[in-house]
Amino acid sequence: MSITILGIESSCDDTSAAVIRDGLLLSNVIASQKVHEEYGGVVPELASRAHQQNIVPVVDTAIRRAGIDKHDLTAIAFTRGPGLLGSLLVGTSFAKGLAIGLGIPMVDVNHLHGHVLSHFIREQADDEIPEFPYLCLLISGGNSQLILVKSPKDMEVLGQTIDDAAGEAFDKCAKVMGLPYPGGPHIDRLAAEGDPTRFKFSRPHIPGLNYSFSGLKTSFLYTLRDNIKLDPDFVEKNRADLAASLQHTIIAILLDKLDKAVKATGVKTIAIGGGVSANSGVRAAIADYCQKHGLKAFIPKRAFTTDNAAMVAIAGYFKYLDNDLCSLDATPYARVTV
Ligand code: KG4
Repeated sequence: MSITILGIESSCDDTSAAVIRDGLLLSNVIASQKVHEEYGGVVPELASRAHQQNIVPVVDTAIRRAGIDKHDLTAIAFTRGPGLLGSLLVGTSFAKGLAIGLGIPMVDVNHLHGHVLSHFIREQADDEIPEFPYLCLLISGGNSQLILVKSPKDMEVLGQTIDDAAGEAFDKCAKVMGLPYPGGPHIDRLAAEGDPTRFKFSRPHIPGLNYSFSGLKTSFLYTLRDNIKLDPDFVEKNRADLAASLQHTIIAILLDKLDKAVKATGVKTIAIGGGVSANSGVRAAIADYCQKHGLKAFIPKRAFTTDNAAMVAIAGYFKYLDNDLCSLDATPYARVTV
């Protein structure tokens, strides 16, 4: 008997639903919210309202595209946290209503586990998936973590940021350059045409496997401030070089701790996940690092780097197999780590 899981994701500003049958992806629908662009960041109340508008058509489309009927579903997996509470409440409440209506169980998913397990989303039966244990570099707007993944439910955080996340460093530096939100993709695009060695920004000197990006942010800001005093058009004239040098520094910081973690654990497989893993420079650097060190690299398709329900469905599938279900009185949580 096949196991068909509907995944629902609504932790931030993407409403997404996906269907996975026996580990194979049948559909993945994402409705992104444009309403936040003019505010330079996600506005929580607007996000919750947009989820309310989007959730029914998104789930309906995911079920139709999967070529199934809703009565074929075995269980519903939903993101319980971390994220914006108002946004999470929409997905959680919808999952409860549908689960009661269909008389099927629910599985709650930690959004971060979803990112880490996104490498198990298979679109074809012969798609390669990682072997345990592997090291996952989870880099997004809210997290920068090095996680030793021993099994779908046994994950050890080896290091994490003590201040800003890598995505925040991209976004906040982009903002001071006058780029739109989120700035990460704009920096990525500009960096392709710039000189990564032109500007030097400070790198953290903290022990262990933790990250820090606040010093880099300040150093970037001061470079701009000092140079604008000499030439008001400094940013305009140096956009590409600033972006390339910033991206180069962020990658160097990420790779430095990753290398330490590889040496400390002896793992042979590296995976990356989260929004920042869409960055071209990060992807190339990880592939290059793994090739040089004889490691296997798992770099997600760009569609699975940002928030999506396919990763929620696959994480839910593992929990379902383990009979790790959730009760109907489950409430979402705003904060939690892996
Ligand atoms: O995982 P994610 O979609 O959600 C949150 O953590 O909220 O990550 C969003 C982050 C943002 O900081 C965004 O700027 C960054 O991922 N991002 C990128 C790229 N695409 C998305 N950063 C650098 N280069 C990119 N191509």
